[in-house]
Amino acid sequence: EASEKHGFSTRRAFILAAIGSAVGLGNIWRFPYVAYEGGGGAFIVPYLVALLLAGIPMLFLDYAIGHRLRGSPPLSFRRVSRKAEWLGWWQVLICAVIAVYYAAIIAWAVRYTGFSIDQSWGADPEAFLFGDFLQAAETPGPTLEVVPGVMIPMVIVWLVTLAVLALGVQGGIGRVATVFIPLLVVAFAVLVVRALFLPGSELGLDALFSPDWAALGDPSVWVAAFGQIFFSLSVGFGIMITYASYVDRKTDMTGSGAVVAFSNSGFEVLAGIGIFAALGFMAQAAGVAVSEVVANGIGLAFVGFPTIISEAPAGALIGLLFFGSLVVAGLTSLISITEVVISAVRDKLGLTRPVAVAVVGLPMMLISCLFFGTTGGVYVLDTMDTWINSFGILVVAAVAMLLLTYVWRALPALADHMNRISSIHLGRWWFVLVGAVVPFVLLVILGQDLWNRLETPYEDYPASLLNTFGWGVVIVVPILAVLLSLLPWRSGLSLEDPGEEPSSRGPDE
Ligand code: PHE
Ligand code: NA
Repeated sequence: EASEKHGFSTRRAFILAAIGSAVGLGNIWRFPYVAYEGGGGAFIVPYLVALLLAGIPMLFLDYAIGHRLRGSPPLSFRRVSRKAEWLGWWQVLICAVIAVYYAAIIAWAVRYTGFSIDQSWGADPEAFLFGDFLQAAETPGPTLEVVPGVMIPMVIVWLVTLAVLALGVQGGIGRVATVFIPLLVVAFAVLVVRALFLPGSELGLDALFSPDWAALGDPSVWVAAFGQIFFSLSVGFGIMITYASYVDRKTDMTGSGAVVAFSNSGFEVLAGIGIFAALGFMAQAAGVAVSEVVANGIGLAFVGFPTIISEAPAGALIGLLFFGSLVVAGLTSLISITEVVISAVRDKLGLTRPVAVAVVGLPMMLISCLFFGTTGGVYVLDTMDTWINSFGILVVAAVAMLLLTYVWRALPALADHMNRISSIHLGRWWFVLVGAVVPFVLLVILGQDLWNRLETPYEDYPASLLNTFGWGVVIVVPILAVLLSLLPWRSGLSLEDPGEEPSSRGPDE
């Protein structure tokens, strides 16, 4: 079968591509803050519990589905059961939603890499970000006023991503990961070492690592740990299903998964050290406590770091390394989410790869630019990001685990498949975790989150914004998924479980 050779050419290429997907903005700007808020040094307990009990077992489930059923999420689920296809489309649509806003953040990082050279943000990085750069509208909500300084780099980010995808699984995705992931690790390590030598860095590390054991009694800390692990590992919404479908039958998948998971966590801890070292410097320079300078996501990367870069010796170098790392980490993740959508449409319609890239990618680019290359973008982005992360990713993961376990009864065949060639045996522990513990924990987490959201309006944004881009999106997505699953298959691919057939991924070129 010709198709096998169009997947990843080696296990190494697959592992690097999977790390490329996992290591993203979540590691660099989300983890340090979540860990600090979640008890500092004590956060290691919920974090490891979430990683070992939920993240890795879920990663193995995704790998098993993609590697055995050899399709994009809709095709793989269709091969599990005639009634399961919609679940695959639900995952695909979540990926599409994430992709359109993720591209905007990468575009900002592209601009800030350039701004670092002469510190264009001047004395007030916050005013510069929301005023000069984003030109954020007065009232939160979408607008049609284009901001060229944001939209142009967005177009570039999209064209690069689509070009890589047009080059194919190995020629594009695999090759980019093989070159850029090692580069990213080196650049980021240099940044961390540089940060550790800044005066005051020890204050930041103290703030990050001093344990607050009382935090372990706070359920929201556990919520945060599970949310972080799912987002960070890119599990439960189709990415790892898609990548695993491109991996040779004879590859040890559980061993690979462990490598990916621990690399991702290693990168997270590295980021925590580097970022808090830099924050320690910033606090000392300003003569305030570290707690005063800690910020979340956008504030950390696009306000905090500019401040650090302006004050630190050789700041421009720190800027290039930090924003350059954001760009590379973000791009490899954007490539992975967009590939999920492309592979799903190809499997369904039987398009060639270049045609599918154009038919899927160009409309995604257009939507992305219209919403996030305009003056209202930042509010829409923040709302979508918050909602899709809990009521998208975590809901679809819980639903998939429950249906696969109790309705389609697919776990035994999937475990057998993985156990044929694997270094970690999926035994009873895996069934208990995937079939009972993890979905149950997720439902508890989601219930709590739902309660919080209904109690306190998010960021004081207007209800119309939250109802459209928060609740609206997460509700429309599964409905649209059901409709897509009703459309006929036009690719001619078999809809049956390929069993242990050696190949049959379907043509890649
Ligand atoms: N895992 C990525 C991160 O940590 C996030 C991501 C989200 C990647 C969606 C791909 C798709 O940033
Ligand atoms: Na990650």
